[in-house]
Amino acid sequence: MKPILVGNWKNHPDSLARAASIASGLAKKSAQYKKLATYIAPPLPYLETVSKKIKGFGNLASQDIFFAPEGTYTGATTPDILKSFGVKLSIIGHSERRALGETNEVASDKIKCALRSGITPLLCVGEKERDAEGEHFEFIREELRLSLEGVRRKDDAGKLIIAYEPVWAIGKRSKEAMQPTDLAQMVIFIKKVLTDIFGREAAEMIPILYGGSVEGDNAKALIETGVNGFLVGHASLDPKMFGEIAAALETHA
Ligand code: PGA
Repeated sequence: MKPILVGNWKNHPDSLARAASIASGLAKKSAQYKKLATYIAPPLPYLETVSKKIKGFGNLASQDIFFAPEGTYTGATTPDILKSFGVKLSIIGHSERRALGETNEVASDKIKCALRSGITPLLCVGEKERDAEGEHFEFIREELRLSLEGVRRKDDAGKLIIAYEPVWAIGKRSKEAMQPTDLAQMVIFIKKVLTDIFGREAAEMIPILYGGSVEGDNAKALIETGVNGFLVGHASLDPKMFGEIAAALETHA
């Protein structure tokens, strides 16, 4: 399995010209991404421009997906439209969308829609806070169980990617990211939950990524925890730092 690196640009940068310049910055170091499965998820209006710049080394991703492949839905961008731009992967159930009201049930519909459309679903799960009693483990189990409702073990499980993103660790500096020992424990737990849902053989095929303040200086320690890659927010807008993260992942290629 190639290490996976996904850059989630969120609603940045604030102009097409800046987006083009960041994508050009990434392209200058394209060799760094060759051994990885790299995806960039820019704001939708920048898809075409970014697509051209990253063609040689990365794939386009979207930060969300609609729950119906086609139809009449004012304001929605359906999977068919995403596909026509070359989008290969969609982030689903990101905590910032869940904060706007997206439920596990909606995430489940979006996953099934992505699968039907031939787009890889990257499901995000993550607790808002941790407590000494370990309640957060049960929270993650429920998010996984409900969001993966209706995903078929045989045909679909092998096409899924999971991103574990503890909400409290998002958007900070590397020092405040999750500690590798805690992450290693959570990775084992997620694998166990996936095994309970899909069986061992299918569960072993599902990559688990970590996201939440991954930067150049903590990527090396975090990749030693058993994760298969990273979902990177702010550092993906900084070609130098994103390159450092890619270099850390390359050692696991
Ligand atoms: P961050 O964001 O890397 O800026 O913490 C990660 C994410 O929200 O996907």
